Amino acid sequence: MNFKDKIIRLSEVDSTNAYAREILKKFPSIQEGTTIVAGFQTSGTGQDGKAWESHKEQNLLLSIIVHPDFLQPDQLFYLNISIALAVFDFIESFYIKDSKIKWPNDIYVGNKKIAGLLIHNDLEFNRIRNSIIGIGININQDNFNTDIPNPVSLKNILKKETDVNVCLENLLDYIENRYNMLKNKDFEKLFSQYHDALYLLGQETLFLDNKDEEFQGIIDGVRSDGRIRIITPQGIRFFEFREIRYIF
Ligand code: BTN
Repeated sequence: MNFKDKIIRLSEVDSTNAYAREILKKFPSIQEGTTIVAGFQTSGTGQDGKAWESHKEQNLLLSIIVHPDFLQPDQLFYLNISIALAVFDFIESFYIKDSKIKWPNDIYVGNKKIAGLLIHNDLEFNRIRNSIIGIGININQDNFNTDIPNPVSLKNILKKETDVNVCLENLLDYIENRYNMLKNKDFEKLFSQYHDALYLLGQETLFLDNKDEEFQGIIDGVRSDGRIRIITPQGIRFFEFREIRYIF
């Protein structure tokens, strides 16, 4: 099955992730790679429950349903790695040199965010039964709300519009390729390529911990369980997603 074989196109929906959840309730074994694409979301959701802003028909808004039951729950972070790498591959295909993956799964160009992922996993009997991979990529939007800290679109960078449908086809090819690597348990390669693309790796950076205390450190890498490893003057510290914020 090809990821481009089953695309459900909606002009408007609350959220493609929510729509995918409803589909899974009715058809829990729906074909892997089923993709829901929307031109506009009335309640597009980002990480931390924040709204995901996207003007009508300007950007890529999609959710892909997969059944990664070949992964153990402790290998779940590799799903995150493979999809982040696929979106990174897609951005790099425009010859954009300074694209990076900001841990755990934002795609950055320079110090600005061009894409984000929101993945929901459904675990059953110690196996991952379903995952909904929500992806938002800023393609042709010129301006963003001022309360979004650092967004950027492909158009802002390339200074020209790109066909969103062609983008979708190409993105799904990159995703299928990385997902096949995951299926083949090519974990070492995925892990090392994720590190090669990691934003601020090895650089002195300022962070805020979850007590709102500022600290300086150097990102040393990410553990296979998804925790980030930071070298600080006090020693090595590990953090889960949402336990730290980067200070720009
Ligand atoms: C983030 O905050 O970085 C994650 C953004 C994920 C947004 C996408 S858009 C398509 C899918 N549907 C949603 O409601 N959210 C995700």
